[in-house]
Amino acid sequence: MSTYKPKNFKILKIIEETPNIKTFTLKPLDETKFNFHTGQFIELTVYGIGEAPFTPSSSPYETETIDLTIMRVGRMTEVLHSMKEGDIVGVRGPYGKGYPVEEFKNKEVLIIGGGVGLAPLRSLILTLIERISEFKKIILCYGARTPQDVVYKYIFPKWKKIKGLEILRSVDRCQVDEWDETIGVVTCLLDKINVDVKNTVAIVCGPPIMMKFTTLKLVEKKFKPQQIYLSMERNMSCGLGKCGHCQIGSYFICKDGPVFSWEQLKDIPEPFE
Ligand SMILES: Cc1cc2nc3c(=O)[nH]c(=O)nc-3n(C[C@H](O)[C@H](O)[C@H](O)COP(=O)(O)OP(=O)(O)OC[C@H]3O[C@@H](n4cnc5c(N)ncnc54)[C@H](O)[C@@H]3O)c2cc1C
Ligand code: FES
Repeated sequence: MSTYKPKNFKILKIIEETPNIKTFTLKPLDETKFNFHTGQFIELTVYGIGEAPFTPSSSPYETETIDLTIMRVGRMTEVLHSMKEGDIVGVRGPYGKGYPVEEFKNKEVLIIGGGVGLAPLRSLILTLIERISEFKKIILCYGARTPQDVVYKYIFPKWKKIKGLEILRSVDRCQVDEWDETIGVVTCLLDKINVDVKNTVAIVCGPPIMMKFTTLKLVEKKFKPQQIYLSMERNMSCGLGKCGHCQIGSYFICKDGPVFSWEQLKDIPEPFE
């Protein structure tokens, strides 16, 4: 079978997370299991329209189905958002390297997400929760533009009960009495947390501007470049390290990433452009 030929998956369930973000639960039509490492990505085909990369937001321990949390931004995602439960899409992958979870053992894991950037981080958090005793503690700092833009609203009450997982959330703006947590950009949450910087890894995913300012703030807080991990996005085509579309410096995001340490990226001019 061609490496580029997708397998058919059925849309089992659709959750409307926000006005422009939906979570799609997909199941392979041939009933095979789908295995991936948290942080790896897949190429999703909407037949007749095109293909785009997305990172599963579900736990890799769940192999019967995968969840993709997808923001409507352009042609392909627009059509995807109009699809219904029961419709068929194509999936190929998984690709890339994902999160180096073994390197997080016995450390404090600081996870910082912005907007739909919580998608791959949800997969990571679900992975860490399965093995929670292996980490010193997990802190999630999550920011969205408004309370309506917060994804996975139904998950936070469950996560807040988990011992060893601390959650701080912020919104950039809100109406009076609409939000009783922090108001401000997500980086302001970093002033509220208490971590042992020397023994902490920081994992960041969000829009490029958020990743840039979060990285600067972590560096200011004395995180070393090798302690910071970033999920990078570029236009992709093959997903296999062959076409060069996703090049950043000397790396291919599809093959060498999409997760990179700041140590790998810091000398590349304008890595967040
Ligand atoms: C490894 C990887 C993992 C990804 N995982 C996810 C994921 O889990 N969920 C998700 O929603 N997206 C994810 N993306 C981004 C996703 O691939 C794009 O949003 C998608 O390709 C857009 O396709 P389109 O045809 O709808 O938009 P296009 O027609 O290609 O783009 C329309 C417009 O939207 C802009 N645009 C493209 N991407 C974004 C974006 N992310 N945010 C804002 N504007 C954008 C483009 O610059 C363009 O102006 C990931 C990207 C990569 C590389
Ligand atoms: S998408 Fe072709 S090399 Fe990365």
